[in-house]
Amino acid sequence: MAKILQMPTQTGKIGVFDSGVGGLTVLREIMAHLPAESLLYFGDTARVPYGDRTQAELLRFVREIITWMQGQGVKMVVMACNTSSALALEIVQAEFDLPILGIILPGARAAAKAGRRIGVISTVATAQSNAYKQAILEASSNSQVWQVGCPDFVPLIEKSRIDDPYTRAVATDYLKPLMAANIDTLVYGCTHYPHLAPLMNQILPSSITVINPASFLVTAMTKELDLLGLRSNQSKSQIDFYVSGDPAQFAQVSSQWLGFTPDVKPVSLAVLEGLAIAQSF
Ligand code: DGL
Repeated sequence: MAKILQMPTQTGKIGVFDSGVGGLTVLREIMAHLPAESLLYFGDTARVPYGDRTQAELLRFVREIITWMQGQGVKMVVMACNTSSALALEIVQAEFDLPILGIILPGARAAAKAGRRIGVISTVATAQSNAYKQAILEASSNSQVWQVGCPDFVPLIEKSRIDDPYTRAVATDYLKPLMAANIDTLVYGCTHYPHLAPLMNQILPSSITVINPASFLVTAMTKELDLLGLRSNQSKSQIDFYVSGDPAQFAQVSSQWLGFTPDVKPVSLAVLEGLAIAQSF
């Protein structure tokens, strides 16, 4: 595929995407630590969840989203999605002339520093990819890693069922093998899961260090922006929200995590699919 030429500028937006509301946990970190950056958030809510997709499907979605974001003039793309980072990051990094950052490497390195008995909860696709295990062992070969796929979490979080006793039962069940393995560190290997923090904090013993890879991704982003001379020095920044599904539903569910009700615009799947076809991936 021919590379697409474009010139990123300091004032350009940073594109941040996920299958749904999960990426908001990354967006929040970016807003807190890089407040001068303007952001373009895309939630692929028409196709959530990503966690049981094949690599071919994920790659198609990711190519469509990055092509669309490129058309919006973004200067950098952040995969606020572990599943996409596990299955598609390296391929699209080689295809697009645009800095594209994933979340797994920063999270894995932080986990390897924090402990030796590391549990990773994630989507089934991320767990099966072994991306976390490989990255943690590369950073610290004497670590032990246990990965648990948690397919019920994303649909429950997208429906905002955080306080639901059913969600508590599901979480207790998923954590059981990790408690039995006596882990000292737990990685939120899916960007949706920090939304469960109030519940997880009740279930997890306080001796376990919890890693939210989003914090470490923002440190990596900051370094990359500085390295490329792309860090914004604007006094005013803005955030635009787009989804492929129902904008009103996204606005309603996300307001509890954003602290404001976002103005959300639609992007149709027909537009996304058409862009990828035009690029002939
Ligand atoms: N939040 C994403 C992740 O970090 C995707 C989860 C999903 O849609 O299944 O993996």
